[in-house]
Amino acid sequence: MTQPIRVAVTGAAGQIGYSLLFRLASGETFGNRPVILQLLDLPIPEVQKALQGVAMELQDCGFKTLAGIVTTDDPNVAFDGVSWSLLVGSKPRGPGMARADLIRENGPIFIGQGQALERGASDLRVLVVGNPCNTNCLIAASNCNGVPKERFFAMTRLDENRAIAQLANKAGVTNAEIKHVSVFGNHSESMYPDFENAMIGKKKAASVIKDRKWLRGEFVAAVQNRGKAIIQARGKSSAASAASAAIDHVKDLEAKTARGQWFSAAVWSDGSYGSPLGIYTSLPITSDGKGGYSVVQGLKLSSWAQEKIRLTNEELLSEREVVKDLLK
Ligand code: NAD
Ligand code: LMR
Repeated sequence: MTQPIRVAVTGAAGQIGYSLLFRLASGETFGNRPVILQLLDLPIPEVQKALQGVAMELQDCGFKTLAGIVTTDDPNVAFDGVSWSLLVGSKPRGPGMARADLIRENGPIFIGQGQALERGASDLRVLVVGNPCNTNCLIAASNCNGVPKERFFAMTRLDENRAIAQLANKAGVTNAEIKHVSVFGNHSESMYPDFENAMIGKKKAASVIKDRKWLRGEFVAAVQNRGKAIIQARGKSSAASAASAAIDHVKDLEAKTARGQWFSAAVWSDGSYGSPLGIYTSLPITSDGKGGYSVVQGLKLSSWAQEKIRLTNEELLSEREVVKDLLK
């Protein structure tokens, strides 16, 4: 029998957890490979009770690929032997807040969790979703001995998906016709969604959508501010779309990326496209399907785009300064 894959999810009793867990267990993400879910949430009786309820519903789905469920309030138990750890558990922002406002409240969570991640399997990969995710990822990776920084990612796939949907809508085509959209920098209002290299079908996006003012203005702003717009509309932050992006991220890293394709994730900066070292910044990457990834090289960016990328990376350097006492 195939060895089950152990997958940890933190904040598993929360709203993203509720959209995420069923798709991890169902076979959609890991194919026929059996999955053991190791679910962490806070040591608060009502929260643990809600977590039990989620575990009961997972059982009731009868997924053939679900080989076990562990519920716990102890990160050492949750991360024991895991190949993937999805760090969702943390406070979401409310109306009127910036994601960076959460930094001093959520940041400390990722110290203890970073340390406990040393208990992961040798092929451990970590996706940080909890905001501000790039800097929380830096805290977790910095506190985790023995696991290479390249095994940690922060989620910007939701921003890429949002950018694709905006372009498709403007061009009157389906999402499937859009490719080569990359998100650079921070998962914040400063992020830069690149349309200069984007393709619609076989054509450059900018030759299909000729409205350059829209591309540089409304398009970029819509992606940058989409999280806020969802909070204003729903009263709560995005959840189903965030979970869907996390599934996309895991699936795309599990598989070998098809030739000529790429996707966005915040990774340990290797200096590409002028990114400063020592931060987790979003870049276009491809996966080798064996646990490794490469940053896509050689994309042509105008000086206007390069300046946007410089600014979003500057913001990441300032966030790092704010949490420097949490880094090892
Ligand atoms: P939620 O409040 O519904 O759920 C969060 C869960 O985390 C709760 O069950 C809470 O008890 C738990 N939690 C809090 N601290 C914890 C800890 N130390 N250990 C384990 N669990 C803990 O929130 P949500 O809507 O699920 O959002 C979770 C996070 O994801 C937020 O920070 C939000 O801003 C972020 N988010 C990121 C993206 C992205 O694209 N990167 C998208 C959407 C949301
Ligand atoms: C999002 O992009 O929807 C999340 O990061 C939640 C938020 O605070 O915007």
